[in-house]
Amino acid sequence: MRNAARRATERRYLMCPPTHFKVTYSINPWMDPAKPVDLPLALAQWEDLRDRYRDLGHTVEELEPHRELPDMVFAANGATVVEGRVLGARFAHSERTAEAAAHRAWFRANGYEDVYEPEHINEGEGDFAVTASWLLAGRGFRSSPLSHPEAQEFFGRPVIGLDLVDPRYYHLDTALCVLDDSTDTEVMYYPPAFSKGSQAVLARLFPDAIIAEEPDAAALGLNAVSDGRHVLLPQAAVGLFGPLRERGYEPIGMDLSELLKGGGSVKCCTQELR
Ligand code: ARG
Repeated sequence: MRNAARRATERRYLMCPPTHFKVTYSINPWMDPAKPVDLPLALAQWEDLRDRYRDLGHTVEELEPHRELPDMVFAANGATVVEGRVLGARFAHSERTAEAAAHRAWFRANGYEDVYEPEHINEGEGDFAVTASWLLAGRGFRSSPLSHPEAQEFFGRPVIGLDLVDPRYYHLDTALCVLDDSTDTEVMYYPPAFSKGSQAVLARLFPDAIIAEEPDAAALGLNAVSDGRHVLLPQAAVGLFGPLRERGYEPIGMDLSELLKGGGSVKCCTQELR
C-alpha cells in the first residue's frame, strides 16, 4: 500500500537499561570481547531511545538490570506478549539463561496472569514477529523449530516458520521488521538472510514489502520498531529512509553504536507489551 495515511497507535514497551552492558563473551558474529564498550555512551544512547518513545506518546516500562547478565539490555528476547498473554523465553546460550526467569518474574509482579514457561528454546521477539493475524517465526540459529508449534498452540495464531541462514542475521528481528501490525502485509526484510524456500514464502506473503539492500541490513537497519507510522531504526541504514517515506512512514534515525557491539539495535532493546 503506497502513499497511505499512516496512523500511529499508542504502544507499551518493556526495556532494560544497559547499566551492566559489556561484551565479555561472543555468541554472535557482532560480538568481539576485544573491542571496548563505552558504557556511559551506551547508556546515553539507550536513554535517547527510551525518551524518544515517550515523546511519541508511548509508555516505557523498565526492567531491573542484573550485574551478571550483560545482555539483558536486549529486552526483546525475554518474552513474547500478544493480547496480554506472555510466552516466556528459553535461551539458547547459558550466558543468557537467567534472563528468562527475570522476565517472567516481572510479568507476574505486574499483573499478567497468563505467563507460560516454554519447553523449547525461543528467544522471544528476537525470533517472533507479530502481524495482524500471524506470528512470523525465525529458526536456524537460536529459537528451536519445536518452539513454533509451541507458540502456535499457546497463542492460537498461525505460525509461519522462516529459516535464517546467515549467522550475522541470527535472529528474525535482524532481518525483518513488521511496519504496520494492523495488517498482514506491511513489512521490510533482507532476502539473503533467509533460505531460498523462506524467501519464496516471504515473496508470496509480502509482495509489496520494502526489500533492504546489503549495507542497510548490515547496519542492522531492519532491527527497527514501528508504531504504525514512526519507524525508529539505526541511523546508519540510510537506504531505508526513502522507501519508508515513500510508503507514508516517518523514519527516525537512532544512534545505538555501542549496543551494536553486542549484536543488537533498536528492536533488540525493545519488547512490545501487546
Ligand atoms: N548479544 C545478544 C545475543 O547474541 C544480542 C541479542 C540481540 N537481540 C535481538 N533481539 N536480536 O543474544
